[in-house]
Amino acid sequence: MGIIFKSRDIIDINDFSKEELLFILKTARKFDPEYVKKDRSNYTIAQGKIAALLFFEPSTRTEQSFKSAAQKIGMGIIGFDDPEATSIHKGESFSDTIRIMNSYADVLIMRHPESGAAGKAADVADIPVINAGDGANQHPTQTMLDLYTMMKEAGPPSREAGRLDGITVALMGDLKYGRTVHALSIALSHFKVKQIFISHPSLAMPAEFLQILDKRGVKYEQLDQMPSDLQADFLYQTRVQKERFKNLSEYKKIKDKFVLDASFKKFLDRGVKLMHALPRVNEIDPSLDAHPNAIYFAQARNGLYIREALLALVLGRI
Ligand code: NCD
Repeated sequence: MGIIFKSRDIIDINDFSKEELLFILKTARKFDPEYVKKDRSNYTIAQGKIAALLFFEPSTRTEQSFKSAAQKIGMGIIGFDDPEATSIHKGESFSDTIRIMNSYADVLIMRHPESGAAGKAADVADIPVINAGDGANQHPTQTMLDLYTMMKEAGPPSREAGRLDGITVALMGDLKYGRTVHALSIALSHFKVKQIFISHPSLAMPAEFLQILDKRGVKYEQLDQMPSDLQADFLYQTRVQKERFKNLSEYKKIKDKFVLDASFKKFLDRGVKLMHALPRVNEIDPSLDAHPNAIYFAQARNGLYIREALLALVLGRI
């Protein structure tokens, strides 16, 4: 049986096997100018199809890169990013909103502040639903672009699928509320990757995710400060998720504990590649941006290729 993506929802990274993840990464290369030298004119792939973007929570990269990806493969786009400007303001229920958008589009892309909201939308919709972030839970398409970035950066293009095997990835900052690191840690557990979690104890990786790693026999370490001799191929820095704190004084107490200042340059010089899903607040000093191993802007660009691939796949157009 081949891998079939047509009509599939993309809700939870746990729904994807290693083979499926690798297949998505491989498909993304077809849209990436670093791999495709001549213009392949992808703009007709999904012509006539409509993407509905339902953003119940703010976004820059995820929303704009989905919009760009959809249009680059020929789709039209509809949707909203200010729910207050829709009938939700008049009291329309979530499921009615989904049902209506379902009848106007071919794929729904949704970001929502509640964990599990994307799954609820998928229960109502009969077109594919893509989770663009549900509360503190997950952000699977971010994970796919993170994996894609690591694969591209971790070694020569000849080392195909096993390219992630053998590397060490440190995840730092807000590991409790950061949905990007939850899904990324699970996805990395398919590979022989050592994971290092660095955070204030109150923002540690939740037990439910560590249990999955334990079950899969993944090697990991938990640290409450950045080691002075950090040995890692990638350091994935995160923003402390202010909006998820119930108590703002708690946030203020820990928000600056894990910032990377200009002195982090010595690690970049040693070959540690620095990633971040962005937006950053103050957790990466801008003086590091110009370093070739500060790869967060390239990482954000990779989101475009992953999202073009995912849209084409769930529409059955590739
Ligand atoms: C992340 C998110 O929204 O979860 N950003 C993104 O999608 N690129 C990370 C964050 O907001 O800190």
